Amino acid sequence: MSDATEDIVLELRSLYVGYYKDLNILQDLNVKVRKNQITAILGANGVGKSTALKAVFGFLRPNEGQVLLEGEDIIDVPTHQRILKGLAYIPQQPGIFKDMSVEENLELGGWTFKRDKKQIAEKMEANYERFPVLKDKRKQITGELSGGQQRMVEISRTLMAEPKMLLVDEPTAGLSKMLSEEVYEMLTVLTEQEGLTILLVDQEIRGC
Ligand SMILES: Nc1ncnc2c1ncn2[C@@H]1O[C@H](COP(=O)(O)OP(=O)(O)OP(=O)(O)O)[C@@H](O)[C@H]1O
Ligand SMILES: [Mg+2]
Repeated sequence: MSDATEDIVLELRSLYVGYYKDLNILQDLNVKVRKNQITAILGANGVGKSTALKAVFGFLRPNEGQVLLEGEDIIDVPTHQRILKGLAYIPQQPGIFKDMSVEENLELGGWTFKRDKKQIAEKMEANYERFPVLKDKRKQITGELSGGQQRMVEISRTLMAEPKMLLVDEPTAGLSKMLSEEVYEMLTVLTEQEGLTILLVDQEIRGC
């Protein structure tokens, strides 16, 4: 594996993060995330995995340290601008709209940035190629899909905005071993075939 710095998309350097100024849950966290790879931070309940991702996405300001995105310290960059720089975040609590159809959920992912219907249709089609099961179910209410399929909708919706880098919080929480394997398979395809870089946190890697 190359050690060239240009391979590193995201670096967390000596990061101290907490919900209060004088109480750091994460202390001296150092992580390097390489381009087109999945980097995983594993740990038990409550160790601070979600806290780390919130700090990367800008929901929490670290007390100390640096968050370097392609070499630039983004600590003072607000979340909406981090999104424009290509960061995307899939939180631990599912954020899909369960009363809406698969198609409506995907459309929302596209409307955030671009009001160009043609582009949205193209990106939606790309998602259906990635996850053919969603094409069959595009008119179905998302809440009626299986847990794994709902995760696929959520990931697809995030991909509508064409991020460079995905932050994923516990992609397989609550899923069976078989569905976990499917989710990891799809994340692997995103890095190997579509050039995405992924930082995920999980309790264990099931299905790898
Ligand atoms: N909003 C908050 N305010 C104060 N403390 C918080 C807040 N959110 C989380 N914490 C605390 O921070 C610590 C780390 O929480 P975090 O959610 O990052 O853990 P986690 O590793 O993601 O756990 P899990 O595997 O259960 O999701 C915990 O002790 C938690 O109680
Ligand atoms: Mg968590």
